[in-house]
Parts: sequence; C-alpha cells; structure tokens
Amino acid sequence: MRFRQETHDDISFLKSGIETRNLSFNQLIEQIERVAVNSVEPVLLTGPTGAGKSNLARRIYELKRTRRQLKGEFVEVNCATLHGTAAMSALFGHKKGAFTGAIGDRQGLLRRADGGMLFLDEIGELGIDEQSMLLRAVEEKRFLPMGSDKETQSNFQLICGTNRDLMVSVKSGRFREDLLSRINLWTFAMPGLMHRPEDIEPNLKYELDRYAEKCGARITFNKEAQRRFLTFAISSEALWAANFRDLNGAVTRMATLAPGGRITIAVVEEEILRLKSSWHAARTGSNMAILSEIMGEERVAKLDRFERAQLADVLTVCRTSKTISDAGRRLFAVSRTQKTKANDADRLRKYLKKYDIHWNDF
Ligand SMILES: Nc1ncnc2c1ncn2[C@@H]1O[C@H](COP(=O)(O)OP(=O)(O)OP(=O)(O)O)[C@@H](O)[C@H]1O
Ligand SMILES: [Mg+2]
Repeated sequence: MRFRQETHDDISFLKSGIETRNLSFNQLIEQIERVAVNSVEPVLLTGPTGAGKSNLARRIYELKRTRRQLKGEFVEVNCATLHGTAAMSALFGHKKGAFTGAIGDRQGLLRRADGGMLFLDEIGELGIDEQSMLLRAVEEKRFLPMGSDKETQSNFQLICGTNRDLMVSVKSGRFREDLLSRINLWTFAMPGLMHRPEDIEPNLKYELDRYAEKCGARITFNKEAQRRFLTFAISSEALWAANFRDLNGAVTRMATLAPGGRITIAVVEEEILRLKSSWHAARTGSNMAILSEIMGEERVAKLDRFERAQLADVLTVCRTSKTISDAGRRLFAVSRTQKTKANDADRLRKYLKKYDIHWNDF
C-alpha cells in the first residue's frame, strides 16, 4: 500500500500545484494518478483545445519517471503535422534508399521512445496506413521500418491526445476501430475551463505567479478589479474557447498593461472586451465546421443547405453553453417572452433528436 502522502504529492504534481476545487476535475486527476502509477496500458486524453492535454501527458510521464517506472525518453509527436511517406518514416524509421531522398538510415520516433513514453497528440489526424502499423507496434512491440526486411523492437508506453470524437471518426471511416479499442482502455475527458468555474480563481493566482517568475515583477489586482474579472470569468458570457490559453493570454495582457503593477478596473474592462471579441471571431469562423465535427461528414452531406445553416448555429450555441437549459434560453430568447411557461430545454432536445444528436455529444 502506498503512503497517503505520496499519493497526495503525485496528485498535486499532476495539477501543477494548483489547488483546484472542482469536484469532478479533482476526481478525474485522482483516477489518472492511480492509472499512471499502476498501469502500463495506453492512455487517451480527450478534450477541447487548451484544456491541458499536452501538459498533463508530460506530467504523467514525469511522474512515472520519478517513480522509476520508466527510464527512456518522452517523445512527443503532433500527428497533424505528419503526412504520407514522411509520416511513415518519421514514426517507424527507414533504411537508406527506401525512397527517393532517403540518403541514410533513420531510427524513427517509436524506436526512440523505447523504454519511455510516446505521446501521439492529435492522433485522430493520423493516416489509415500509419494507424495499422501503429496498432501492430502497440500489440506486438515490433514493426517494420520502411525499406527494411528486419523488424525493429520497441517497448514504449503510449499516451494519445485528441480533440476529436474518435467514435465519430470511426463511423466515418477515418479511424480504425481496432486501434481505437486498443487505445481507449483508459480515456480521460479533460473538461474545458467553462465547466470548472470554481477553478478560475486558483488558476488566476497560478498565472500571476507564472508571470512574476517569468518577468520578475509581481503584479496584483485591485480588489474591485479582481471581483469584476472573476464575475465575468464565471458568467455565461465567458466562453473560454481556448481554455487555459485564453486565461494565460488575458493575464499576460492585463499584467503588462497594469499601471504601477496594479491591475485596475479599467484594465479589466478593456480585457473583457478583447476576450469577447476574440470569442466572437472564433465562433463565426468555425460555424460550419461544427457540423461535421458533431455529426460526421457523411451525415452532413445528406442535409440540405437550407437545414445546415440553422443547425450549425444551434450546435454552436450548444457547444458554448454550460447546460441544455442555458442553451435553450439563448436559442428561444424571443419566443419565450411571449409564453407563460415555456420549456426551452425540452424544445431544444426534441430539435436535436431529429438529427440523432444528444447533449452529451457536446
Ligand atoms: N492544469 C493547468 N493549469 C494551468 N495552466 C495549464 C494547465 N494545463 C495547461 N496549462 C497551460 O495552458 C496552455 C495549453 O495547455 P496544453 O498545450 O496542455 O493544452 P492542450 O489541451 O494540449 O491543447 P491543444 O489541443 O490545442 O493541443 C499551456 O500554456 C499550458 O501551460
Ligand atoms: Mg496539445
């Protein structure tokens, strides 16, 4: 049995020392700690951009290393940057002359991760051929480098990240079902900042500490200014679309503009406008992309253009709302003033059901 103190330290390490208060997030990290310490199976981290997947993957590795469960390196690959022959060769290596331009042998990233951990970020972007090779490498710890007639061995632990719903990718034929079932034994869904309102305050403190460390200047909030920022930060107006990246950006800007090292209410108000406009821009840009993300391209192709526009907007509101009731209120704001008792959530649920979409899909 491990000492309680040890477990506590591990958990704190995984949380970058931030004293988070959100119950479900804390439970999630406790589970991740147990898995990190007890398991060598693949781990899949899902969640929106900036939710902290890459950061957590590296910390899981460091934890295992401190516990002497791993000796090798942490090898990080963003699968979205790998295409075609280059992808195969980067991952699995090649022999000299395997293809035009292969002027020497190349070891490949899987081999480099031997005894360590391979972090495949955005694994949903990996090509189908690479997926097959990867599956074999995970199951048998062996694979064939390009142009080689001898298999290479590598024993690595695998951690994957994605902000796609891989089940949808399986349905649309973009992701291998067998690979998914191999990597999703432990799937942890990282919540966005919007779903962790209790944690904005401790994270704000953390960001100010980080700023002080980096810039050598300790910046503080005026009391009223801090209250204003936190009230906005947990309101339904605050989308935190890029999660920690947005919070980090906001703090950096406010700290830089703070007159005499104090963040004033004027600085906060200005930042709120900036955040709102950046979220607005992001929302209109990705309006149509959300359709294929939630439904898969195949199903979208079967919709009339007439339906697409409305559905895309409804889904965008759903994605940026905390609860279905909240989304319902925003979507039916006008018509509900004309009724004595309206159930917006129910109306929305029925609309989504027509398209076989459920609240959990967001
Ligand atoms: N738990 C955390 N608390 C505070 N800040 C964090 C935390 N995790 C990550 N960050 C910061 O947030 C930023 C984004 O984190 P990270 O790159 O891990 O997100 P991600 O989920 O991998 O995003 P993407 O899907 O875009 O790759 C980084 O600057 C990181 O330092
Ligand atoms: Mg990442």
